[in-house]
Amino acid sequence: MLVEWALSLANPAPLRLRRLGYVRQSGLLHARSRRCRAAWAPHLARARGVITASAEATTRRGVAVVLGSGLLDDVPLDALATRFDRVQLVDAVHPWPARLAARRYRNVALVTAEISAGLMERALAEACAEADLIVSANLLSQLPIVPIDAYEARGREAPPRLGAQIVETHLGALDALAAGSERICLITDTVQREEDRQGRVTDSLDLMFGVALPPPSVFWDWELAPFGEVGRRHRLIHRVHAYPDWRAARA
Ligand SMILES: C[S@@+](CC[C@H](N)C(=O)[O-])C[C@H]1O[C@@H](n2cnc3c(N)ncnc32)[C@H](O)[C@@H]1O
Repeated sequence: MLVEWALSLANPAPLRLRRLGYVRQSGLLHARSRRCRAAWAPHLARARGVITASAEATTRRGVAVVLGSGLLDDVPLDALATRFDRVQLVDAVHPWPARLAARRYRNVALVTAEISAGLMERALAEACAEADLIVSANLLSQLPIVPIDAYEARGREAPPRLGAQIVETHLGALDALAAGSERICLITDTVQREEDRQGRVTDSLDLMFGVALPPPSVFWDWELAPFGEVGRRHRLIHRVHAYPDWRAARA
């Protein structure tokens, strides 16, 4: 708890985004990513591999944009910065490890923007304009969290379709951006399953809120919370879908 609190205080962010809860979420994620470093390593390596392959397959090398860049754990920053003239990292919060990593490259810029407010928020629209490669990096399932929490914090129930609408809006925005860029790469976790120590599935949660995704080119399991992280007797596993070429997957 102390670590999460300290991380929340240390991470710079506009007051509006801090008040909405993005800084707190970022601190929680940061702390868990460090606690679960070994369990997350295979997932992060696979995601970085998909993004690197996607960058390699992009012939125009002007601008690459990463949506949901966060801690950059799943982002092969060096591969992007050496292949593209400019790299724009977009997130509501850029934690210190990401800021320090970005500083090593003259062609990497940080863009602070709230993505679920619609991809066309001004800062975001500017970042995506003329992008050759746009990567949505393990962001989609996170988008509904802060808006739904905001209702619950006020003791109200979120509108039943809010989560689905946010997922649909992001996918629609990627479709729209596909028209102006060469390649869109989407990586997202889609379903959470809870397993006991015998490997039985004891619960599951649709992280896409019922929105159907096309069959992925590649998929894998991400052990989000190994035994002991959220309970001694169960662990949480997320099924991840990767679309190195979202336009082709949608066709
Ligand atoms: C699971 S992390 C993605 C992992 C990240 N690519 C990394 O390597 O650390 C989700 C990221 O999405 C960001 N995020 C969630 N909702 C957002 C929103 N509405 N606008 C902008 N960023 C958002 C969070 O701040 C977080 O950094």
